[in-house]
Amino acid sequence: MGLITIDEDRCRKDGFCARECPAAIIELPGGGWPRIKPGQEEGCMDCGHCVAVCPHDALRHERIPQVGSPALRDDLRIGEAQAAQFLRARRSIRHFAARPVEKGKILKLIETARYAPTGGNRQEVEWLVIDDGPRLREIGALTVAWLRKVVEDPRAVAAAPYLVPTIAAWDAGEDTVLRGAPALVVAMAPAEGTSGSVDVAIAQTYLDLYAPVLGLGTCWAGLLQGAMANAPETRAAVGIPEGYPHHFALMLGYPDVRFFRTPERKAPRITFT
Ligand SMILES: Cc1cc2nc3c(=O)[nH]c(=O)nc-3n(C[C@H](O)[C@H](O)[C@H](O)COP(=O)(O)O)c2cc1C
Repeated sequence: MGLITIDEDRCRKDGFCARECPAAIIELPGGGWPRIKPGQEEGCMDCGHCVAVCPHDALRHERIPQVGSPALRDDLRIGEAQAAQFLRARRSIRHFAARPVEKGKILKLIETARYAPTGGNRQEVEWLVIDDGPRLREIGALTVAWLRKVVEDPRAVAAAPYLVPTIAAWDAGEDTVLRGAPALVVAMAPAEGTSGSVDVAIAQTYLDLYAPVLGLGTCWAGLLQGAMANAPETRAAVGIPEGYPHHFALMLGYPDVRFFRTPERKAPRITFT
């Protein structure tokens, strides 16, 4: 059996599958049934567009099972106003409730984030979850140790004036690095491939956007990212393996803050050329 199978009772030979295939490996030879061009199965990137685009449910793909590819439901579509408010209302959370995040919810978040697009559909993003309080505190302390070195350079302080107060507040007992979040979710990708850093960022964006739906909040851990990029001991404490240069961590927890407005932003600078 080949990679794709056609239900000849359902297929109308409309060619949508061939037109949609990003690798151009599907053909309808002489107006016949769709098939993968001989010898070109290896070109398939398993994107599933051929399955998704068939209006007649006539195409089966060996690696894209129907059971994991639910039909789109009209009643679940969201309107423009809801989508716009949902996106604009996403906020960085810096006050978390002293309540652990259930493992089931973290798994749900990652389950959704794995549908984020990846370059060439490689799907190589992997996840680390840290929800051990003392370990999170140690990661925060290592980040501050790195920040202390950074602020020795006046140019760094000029570029990021918030760094000195961040250290002072840490010294006064405030967790200005991980904000007291009960969990840290790290997305990471191996060096191979051409889009690891973008894939990681998009996957975390999916997780970030889905979190409020589960009652959770996030904050991108940029200070920790700086420390991981420059201080191997911080990378080791987080547990980033060798060969994974692409990574970003999100703080995760139940928000202990509520917002009532969506703040204004700078006008976009747009050039149509
Ligand atoms: C890449 C990135 C890194 C960030 N790092 C931090 C951080 O280390 N600590 C923090 O409190 N906020 C961090 N933030 C949050 C930004 O400050 C925040 O997104 C911005 O102020 C806008 O606020 P909003 O997210 O609520 O819209 C980061 C955001 C991004 C996108």
